[in-house]
Amino acid sequence: PRTAVVIPAAGRGVRLGPGTPKALRTLHGTPMLVHAVRAMAASRAVSLVVVVAPPDGVAEVRAMVDDHLHPTEAPSFAPARAGGGDETDIVVVAGGETRQESVRRGLDALPADVTTVLVHDAARPLVPVDIVDGVVAAVRGGAPAVVPGLPLSDTVKEVGALAEGATGPGEPVVATPERARLRAVQTPQGFDREALDRAHRQGPVQGEGATDDAGLCERLGLPVVVVPGHEEAFKVTRPLDLVLAEAVLARRRA
Ligand code: CTP
Ligand code: MG
Repeated sequence: PRTAVVIPAAGRGVRLGPGTPKALRTLHGTPMLVHAVRAMAASRAVSLVVVVAPPDGVAEVRAMVDDHLHPTEAPSFAPARAGGGDETDIVVVAGGETRQESVRRGLDALPADVTTVLVHDAARPLVPVDIVDGVVAAVRGGAPAVVPGLPLSDTVKEVGALAEGATGPGEPVVATPERARLRAVQTPQGFDREALDRAHRQGPVQGEGATDDAGLCERLGLPVVVVPGHEEAFKVTRPLDLVLAEAVLARRRA
């Protein structure tokens, strides 16, 4: 019964601005993707990581992973772990047009003996290992789909489309969901492997695809549960997030 992690890292990072694909940008001199792989490999539960690279960047990502995580000719990466000894294999495959397609390609690369799968955004490089372990424990405890999440600070409004020929400023508010019942969800999200495979076999969601994997399970009617997330599992999406990520790393190294 092995646990594997799929890391979608094939996005361009449009909201971060022009430049290198987001997952390959550096934080404290190390590519965001490498931080993310290390965060997953830090969990004793994880024995395999599948990195889903930009389609034109597979060789570059393979070399980057070997550089940072396989410094010798050793066949796999052995992270420092309390009472360690286990090793984490790292596979690199090509991603697709949407996050959903990239995750599906990662799932297709998993060996048959994997029973628990986590999906973790490369864009969440600083997630603490306790969150990873908590998600794995909940899946192994019998939950088919588990997401880490946090209460919101901001009130959220649902807005509607501007009416045809509307004048005046602003978007019309349709509803205000009760904030106390909302959770901002993060990754890694954890799944019973068979359930997630089934969820992805339903076919694509239109547009940019599903923005999270648990949503696909919900479409199937599977129960999804939220476990505690962590502030440091935030997603690097916009330029200000890079400032925050650098500051978190600086504090960790202080
Ligand atoms: N992702 C992916 N394949 C895609 C699109 C996204 O693997 N075709 C990955 C990203 O690399 C990221 C994760 O999905 O690790 C979360 O997506 P997001 O934060 O939206 O990243 P990007 O799509 O790269 O950013 P943007 O939407 O600003 O372009
Ligand atoms: Mg995106």
